[in-house]
Amino acid sequence: ASPLRDLAAAKGRYFGNAMTAGDFNDSAYRALSAREAGVVTPGNEMKWDATEPSRGSFTFTRGDQVVAGAVAANQKVRGHTLVWHSQTPAWAQNLSAGDLRSAMVNHINTVMGHYKGKVFAWDVVNEAFAENGTRRQSFWQQKLGDGFIAEAFRAARAADPGAKLYYNDYNTDGIGAKSDGVYNMVKAFKQQGVPIDGVGFQAHLIVGQVPSSLRQNLQRFADLGVDVAITELDIRMKTPSDSAKLAQQARDYGQVVDACLAVARCVGITTWGLSDNHSWIPGVFPGEGAALPFDGNLQPKPAYNAMSTAF
Ligand code: XIL
Repeated sequence: ASPLRDLAAAKGRYFGNAMTAGDFNDSAYRALSAREAGVVTPGNEMKWDATEPSRGSFTFTRGDQVVAGAVAANQKVRGHTLVWHSQTPAWAQNLSAGDLRSAMVNHINTVMGHYKGKVFAWDVVNEAFAENGTRRQSFWQQKLGDGFIAEAFRAARAADPGAKLYYNDYNTDGIGAKSDGVYNMVKAFKQQGVPIDGVGFQAHLIVGQVPSSLRQNLQRFADLGVDVAITELDIRMKTPSDSAKLAQQARDYGQVVDACLAVARCVGITTWGLSDNHSWIPGVFPGEGAALPFDGNLQPKPAYNAMSTAF
């Protein structure tokens, strides 16, 4: 069968996966990504703690490694992420409101400026909503108030007018309080002329629990006039896996591909890693894993075949 990147491209979509700089040292894994993925998202290398570890001092070494690896495999790069409450150094979190605002704009300008022409889309703001649909009470929110997201998007548009600008979050995949909160923000941004081009749905899902409203949710965002993308897909299970769980997972992966293909403005799907030995899940959700389309020996799982069929 054809690689997922080709099957997706034939449908006007992309298939991508997250890669860390270290992942490029695993030659078999690197080759698997090169074969299957047309887009790479750096797993950690473009986050604030990686790019601006101390104020005004920028390091792009590891991010550049991911870009170089992607270019070598004829892959495009999605930038992740500029403004987030996590993986942001203490120096930034401890700034006064005024200094934080200028540090945010300087960070966006410098990082997006460095990657101009190399990164086609950016997750400008990541995970700024709480489960109940109100704003997460992060240091960004507490110091800068509701306006910080719009300010970040305006700065991002100025920094690289050629990049697609995304808001990205998790547990927003189905219709519910949290996605309603994001929806209302995007609707207001479109009315107010705040420059937003897309919404990313992380889709860190659980086997057997793909939201039944996924397609409808993607469609309602698209109807606001933005692109939508599945940005960090994985579908975890209690380990060890067995054939029943893997079969359910395959149906789940197929359902996600079907939902994206049913929405004209769903531009692509990225998985957060590609094989089960390159996944963040076991480290963060003890007792869970086996969340990706390839197993730890880089062999395709039923989920891979289901995606291949669905594309
Ligand atoms: C994760 C990385 O995969 C881990 O290596 C890191 O320790 C923590 O962050 N949502 C996001 C991603 O937007 O940036 C996170 O990535 C996973 C959850």
